Amino acid sequence: MSDDKERTVELHYEGGVLKLPVFTGTEGESTIELKTLLGSTGMTTLDPGFGNTASCSSEITYIDGDAGILRYRGYPIEDLALHSTFLETAYLVIYGELPEPGQLKEFSDKLRDNADIPAEMGAFLDAMPRNGHPMALMASAVNTLAAYYDDSVDPENEDQVELATIRLMAKLPTIAARIYRNSIGQTPIDPDGSLDYVDNFIRMTFGDKAPTGELGDLFNKAVGMLLVLHADHELNCSTATVRVVGSAKADIFASVASGINALSGPSHGGANQAVLEMLEEIRDSGISIEDFLAKVKSREVRLMGFGHRVYKNFDPRSKEIKVLASQILDQDENPDELFRLALKLEAAALEDSYFTERKLYPNVDFYTGVIYRTMGFPTNMFTVLFALGRLPGWIAHYREQLRDPAFRIARPRQHYVGSAERRYPGQG
Ligand code: ACO
Repeated sequence: MSDDKERTVELHYEGGVLKLPVFTGTEGESTIELKTLLGSTGMTTLDPGFGNTASCSSEITYIDGDAGILRYRGYPIEDLALHSTFLETAYLVIYGELPEPGQLKEFSDKLRDNADIPAEMGAFLDAMPRNGHPMALMASAVNTLAAYYDDSVDPENEDQVELATIRLMAKLPTIAARIYRNSIGQTPIDPDGSLDYVDNFIRMTFGDKAPTGELGDLFNKAVGMLLVLHADHELNCSTATVRVVGSAKADIFASVASGINALSGPSHGGANQAVLEMLEEIRDSGISIEDFLAKVKSREVRLMGFGHRVYKNFDPRSKEIKVLASQILDQDENPDELFRLALKLEAAALEDSYFTERKLYPNVDFYTGVIYRTMGFPTNMFTVLFALGRLPGWIAHYREQLRDPAFRIARPRQHYVGSAERRYPGQG
C-alpha cells in the first residue's frame, strides 16, 4: 500500500466536511481510510457481507474479479497451476518467495518428519463418529492439535508459530486420510516418507487401490493442481474467519480450525459437494436442463458452482480445472455421465440472459467435484480436499496479520435497529 496522503476524498455530513485519506494499492486500486470516521462524525458504515470493506492491507494474493485475474505473491495462477507443485506454491504463499531448491528440500523434509500424528490423537480420531461429516471431524482434530502440541501455541513467539506452521502442513493430510479410512471401515495407513506430499496423501487415502501408471500420474497431477488452485483467495469467508479468530491472539490451530468450519458451509467450500448433489438430483429426477434452470430463475434453487462474490467474469481457476477434467475423463472408458450433464448445464446457463446479465459464471467448484468423484473420493470428502489446498493461505494470513503494524482485534460495529429502552414488567 502506498501511503499517498496527498489524495483525499471529502465526506459532507450535517456536522461539516471530513477529509479522508485515499491509499493506492500495487495495481492502482484505491481504498479510503475510515479510521477517523466514527471519532469525527459519530457515524459508522453499514456494509453487509463486507463487500466494500478492506479489513487489512495484504501482500499475499491479488484478485481482479472483473478481469478474471488471480495471482499469489505476484505470480499468475495459470503459471503456478501448470508449472509449480503444491509444496512450492505453499512455500511461496506462506513465506513470500519461490523457494530455492535447497529451501524446498528443507521444507519438504520437515513436513515428512512431522507427518505422523500422536497415537492418542489417532485413537481420538478413531473414536469419533465414523459417519460424521469429515469437515466436522477435521475441524475438531485440528483444534486438538493445540492440546497435543502446546509448545507451539504462542502467537508472540515466531519460532512457535513456525513450528506450528510445519505441524499443520505436515499433519493435515494424515488427519484427512485417517478420517476417510475410518469412514469406510478400513485400517489407517501411516505416512510414507519416501513419497512426495501429494502421492503420500493419495496412498494414505486409497492404499493399494490408488491408481497406478498413466492414470496414477494424472491423478497425482490433478490433485496437485487442484491444491495449487485453492491455495489462497485473499479475504474469502474462511480466511477472514482465520484472521478474526487470530486477531484475538488465539493460537494458529484454533484459528485454522475456525477456518475449516467456515469453509464447510455450502455457500463457500461446501459448494463443490453441493454441485455434485445438484447434478445427481438432476440426473435422478429426470428433470430437463431447461426446467431445472427455470427453477433456478424462479429462485426455488441456486445453480451451485455458479456465481462468485468477487469474480464477475470467468473464475480463472475454473478454466484450468475444466481442461484437467477433460484430460481425466478422456482416460476413462466410461466417461462420467455427471460430467456430460455439467457440460450441458454450463452451456445452457451461459446462453441464458438471467446468468449473463448477473455476470454469473462457473466458479472453481463447478468441475472439481466431478474430478474428485472420478478419482473415487466420496462427495463429503470434496471440501476436505479444498481445506488441504487452502491451508497455506490460512497460515500465510495468520502470520501476516501478526506482523502488521495496524494489527488490532477485529471488532466490527453494528447498526442497531432493535427496541428502544423499555421497562421490565412490573418495574414502572
Ligand atoms: N444461482 C442463481 N442465482 C444466483 C446465483 C446462483 N448460483 N448466484 C447469484 N445469483 C443471483 C442472486 O439471486 C442475485 O440476483 P438478484 O440481483 O436478482 O437478486 C444476483 O445473482 C447477485 O447475487 P448475490 O447473492 O448478491 O451474490 P453474492 O456475491 O452475494 O453471492 C455466492 C456469491 C454466495 C457465491 C453466490 O453466487 C452463490 O450462492 N453461488 C452458489 C454457491 C457456490 O457456488 N459457492 C461457491 C463460491 S466459490 C468458493 O467459495 C470457492
